[in-house]
Amino acid sequence: MITGASSGIGEATARRLSREPGTELILVARREDRLRALAESLPCKVSYCAVDLTDDDAPQRVRAHLSEHGERLTLLVNNAGAAWRGSFAEAGYANVHRHMELNFDAVVRLTEALLPTLRASAPSAIVNVASTAGRVARARTGSYSASKFALIGWTDSLYAEERSHGVHVGMVLPGFIVTEGFPATELRERALTRWVVSRPEKVAEAILETGPGGRAERYVPRPYALAAVARILMPSLVRRVLSGGAAGALTTSTTADDG
Ligand SMILES: NC(=O)c1ccc[n+]([C@@H]2O[C@H](COP(=O)([O-])OP(=O)(O)OC[C@H]3O[C@@H](n4cnc5c(N)ncnc54)[C@H](OP(=O)(O)O)[C@@H]3O)[C@@H](O)[C@H]2O)c1
Repeated sequence: MITGASSGIGEATARRLSREPGTELILVARREDRLRALAESLPCKVSYCAVDLTDDDAPQRVRAHLSEHGERLTLLVNNAGAAWRGSFAEAGYANVHRHMELNFDAVVRLTEALLPTLRASAPSAIVNVASTAGRVARARTGSYSASKFALIGWTDSLYAEERSHGVHVGMVLPGFIVTEGFPATELRERALTRWVVSRPEKVAEAILETGPGGRAERYVPRPYALAAVARILMPSLVRRVLSGGAAGALTTSTTADDG
């Protein structure tokens, strides 16, 4: 099961997983037309569940869909997410709330509803798509970072708790990846920064690596791990760089900003 499968990383993951022998997929997102078109283009058995994951009854609806398609679940990829830029002074608690609702609460609520099935289907796995922004925060992305910091902390704890139940919990931390929601236009326009941007297919590979029996975490691209290390070992340097003029170049606009 892949959430946020209607575009970007989720869609690339669905395409990648569909090439694995014996795969049966459930695609989850709001845009039904996109899910239907993707399902029709994949070479494996696929169903889809069009749902807004922030709705109160979303976990039950996804759970009911799963029951209709068999009682086994060997991989849950919690990927759906979005970012709305804005400083705290401008965007306030409302912006923190909408990030937490989608990027954290919806993940926790769906996982709660599906964990009994994942345990019953063990060996199985959960892969949470976090972000490098869940290790290092920049100006105007505080609400997004808060939701991903929360997701990372919760994922680490779940990893330790579910090990003995045969449910592997993996985590992927992408950097700048060109997708519909995160076009990274500002970075791609400049020759100096173009190289820092990667593709959703790379994240899809990392999701496979952190799936059942796999690794606990993967940065995509891998060198982004250095940013996380620097934040711990050289906090004042990182703070100085990220509050200086150059840091503005690293805060890209997202499509959620217009929505
Ligand atoms: N691209 C990057 O640079 C980057 C970097 C770090 C982390 N990430 C993370 O990667 C994940 C995927 O993002 P992406 O880059 O692939 O962006 P994307 O192309 O915008 O995909 C986001 C997906 O989430 C779904 N979604 C959004 N709100 C939803 C809701 N309320 N209910 C159900 N589904 C919802 C969207 O589908 P519908 O609109 O059809 O619902 C879409 O399929 C996110 O968690 C993001 O935070 C991305």
